[in-house]
Amino acid sequence: MNQTTPPQNLALPVGVTLDRYIIRKQSAFPFATGELSQLLRDIALAGKIINREINRAGLIDVVGGFGAQNVQGENQQKLDVIANIRFIRALKNGGEVCALISEEDEEIIFTGNDHGKYVVAMDPLDGSSNIDVNVSIGTIFSIYRRITPTGTRATLDDFMQGGRKQVAAGYILYGSSTMLVYTTGHGVSGFTYDHSLGEFFLSHAELTSPDNGTIYSCNDGNFNQYPETVRDYLATCRERGYTGRYIGSLVADFHRNLIKGGMYLYPPIPKAPSGKLRLLYECYPLAFIAEQAGGSACDGYRSILDIEPTHLHQRTPLYIGAKGMVEELLSRF
Ligand code: AHG
Ligand code: MN
Ligand code: MN
Repeated sequence: MNQTTPPQNLALPVGVTLDRYIIRKQSAFPFATGELSQLLRDIALAGKIINREINRAGLIDVVGGFGAQNVQGENQQKLDVIANIRFIRALKNGGEVCALISEEDEEIIFTGNDHGKYVVAMDPLDGSSNIDVNVSIGTIFSIYRRITPTGTRATLDDFMQGGRKQVAAGYILYGSSTMLVYTTGHGVSGFTYDHSLGEFFLSHAELTSPDNGTIYSCNDGNFNQYPETVRDYLATCRERGYTGRYIGSLVADFHRNLIKGGMYLYPPIPKAPSGKLRLLYECYPLAFIAEQAGGSACDGYRSILDIEPTHLHQRTPLYIGAKGMVEELLSRF
């Protein structure tokens, strides 16, 4: 042993756990009663369980199609269904949520906890086409404080408050490492999962988007169907020698762009005239995070967070990422 090594350096601190961080930051929450802290911890627990299922997916019989379609008419993968069950169960057992909506269910899911103060909108597993091929996938969640009285059944109104009323939002990225990123409206924090300890540790205390970027992320196969404005913008990106990167998992593409500087685009196309992505559980939460990180998100005309919600599974075009890129595109519309 090197005699000059101070003994404490032989056992460096492991860092701040998500639980401890949430409790520490609780006073900054809009309603500092501890229930939102507990809800975030429930989501993190479901994330750990899903992470486990994903990691051993090839070993147990959970890859492939489930043989049914979800409300969007998309083929459900077994892991879509498993993640949905895990999240619903975690939120029911947690007790803080009175109702939730999910990409996988057409109607509102009531937890039976009418005294819960929160409602959650979620995409339990994002990036379905990547599930079977060991490519990054994610979970997206959005949290509102209910506006109907506690003790009564939640209603559609609780979910139709609009993006600016989110009290917290986040995502879990099951990637080369598993990360949980969330905001409660006071900046964005990122945590990395330590498998051996079974804990998320603070790894990105203050996630901020670069003001501008040189990465564009879209499905190039749809290029000819994009609006002319978007095609022109992408042609400019190519002329400038920007980098094209598209994983096909929104969470993963968004996360990379957040760290490195870039923009994700899902414009309207003839087969998806309102875009493909869902407002309540894909676009609102990521737009909240983008804005909190100093980035931007719009549908081509206005901020995503200013879109008025009309139904649970509504879609919107999405342009999200570094402010400079989103604004340049917007200025061309
Ligand atoms: P989901 O798996 O939850 O249905 O979402 C898939 C979304 C998004 O994650 C991804 O960026 C996009 O669909 C990919 O769509 P294309 O295959 O049309 O490019
Ligand atoms: Mn999705
Ligand atoms: Mn999904």
